[in-house]
Amino acid sequence: MEFRRISHLPPYVFAEVNALKLEARRAGEDIIDLGFGNPDIPSSPDVVEKLVEAVRNPRNHRYSQSRGLPNLRRAIADRYARRFGVYLDPETEAITTIGAKEGLSHMLWTLVQPGDVALVPEPSYPIHIYAPVLAGAEVRRIPLSGDADGFFEAMEQAFLDSWPRPRVIITSFPHNPTTVCVDLSFWERMVAFAKQHDTFIVHDFAYADVAFDGYVPPSILEVPGAKDVAVELYTLTKGHSMAGWRVGFVVGNKDVVGALAKLKSYLDYGTFQPIQIASIIALNEGDEYVGEVNDVYLGRRDALIDGLARVGWEIEKPKGTMFVWAKLPEGYESMGSLEFAKRLIPEAKVAVSPGVGFGQHGEGYVRFALVENEERIRQAVRGIRSFLEAG
Ligand SMILES: Cc1ncc(COP(=O)(O)O)c(C=O)c1O
Repeated sequence: MEFRRISHLPPYVFAEVNALKLEARRAGEDIIDLGFGNPDIPSSPDVVEKLVEAVRNPRNHRYSQSRGLPNLRRAIADRYARRFGVYLDPETEAITTIGAKEGLSHMLWTLVQPGDVALVPEPSYPIHIYAPVLAGAEVRRIPLSGDADGFFEAMEQAFLDSWPRPRVIITSFPHNPTTVCVDLSFWERMVAFAKQHDTFIVHDFAYADVAFDGYVPPSILEVPGAKDVAVELYTLTKGHSMAGWRVGFVVGNKDVVGALAKLKSYLDYGTFQPIQIASIIALNEGDEYVGEVNDVYLGRRDALIDGLARVGWEIEKPKGTMFVWAKLPEGYESMGSLEFAKRLIPEAKVAVSPGVGFGQHGEGYVRFALVENEERIRQAVRGIRSFLEAG
């Protein structure tokens, strides 16, 4: 049988590194896994308690609402008001999704179709490329290698060179994997551009709450009038360390929120209600916990980057995300990121993601996910040091 919608999806590039990791672990090796960005920090005990309480109530065992409970939508609106000074109508400008990934994928079904073009930064989190692809659209990749200004210029050029004109531009800052961060003036330029050229911006704000050194990631919706041309995805996965719970939101433009609500009313009945109820606690009372999560990632970031600097591998400290995006060390550039990542497993006992797995523009880099504790990260640094010293 032919599976035409998915047959052109490329094989998962991380599979090779994963296979080596599993093989080494089966042979009894202790591999420190900084590859997959799967948060390891336990969710807030208050949120877990609320889940347990809610799950005991049989009323919560029935189908829920596919848009999300009204109180949960109110909680996301309150959080946006508190955190960003952005006022959302919880009825029309916010919808709950089964994580940002599901929200993004299905939203793209409503935004594009065959014949349409989407602009997507690259390297990229894979679904940013494949959500428009799965919706049948053509994707033009915008190289993201330096800072936000360079990205804006490349985006502008790609837009003006494209025909038909791109219907959507997918963005995500703080960015996975490159850790590029932006300030509000970037969003002002993006919103003005979208208005001038009659296009639409989807901003995946997965790392809204993971930032360091005084940097506060801005929401695109802080720009006056942004709701005319943009929606934003917010998720509890990273900042609230609730990856497995699958709770996210699409907020902003009410036509797009309405279109997604209509599509989702055909597809699902929403997240299990006890999870939604517990998520209200996370949004309303979780600010201190989010600060604690940030402190953990900050300690790990510094342990990794300071440790690698001592062995001669200099990497700039990211201001956001739970990743470190590192240029291959001097002398290893020609090896390529996949080969480098494959060698780190047996020789350093460390798994990382090869940059090329995030697209051709990611070649020459590897990504460390800060998902093991500081002691294990220091152990990883020792392993990498032996690998580099052995040459
Ligand atoms: C940019 C980005 N968007 C979305 C996600 C996934 O979010 P969720 O768990 O809410 O689907 C991730 C997770 O790594 C991510 O890096």
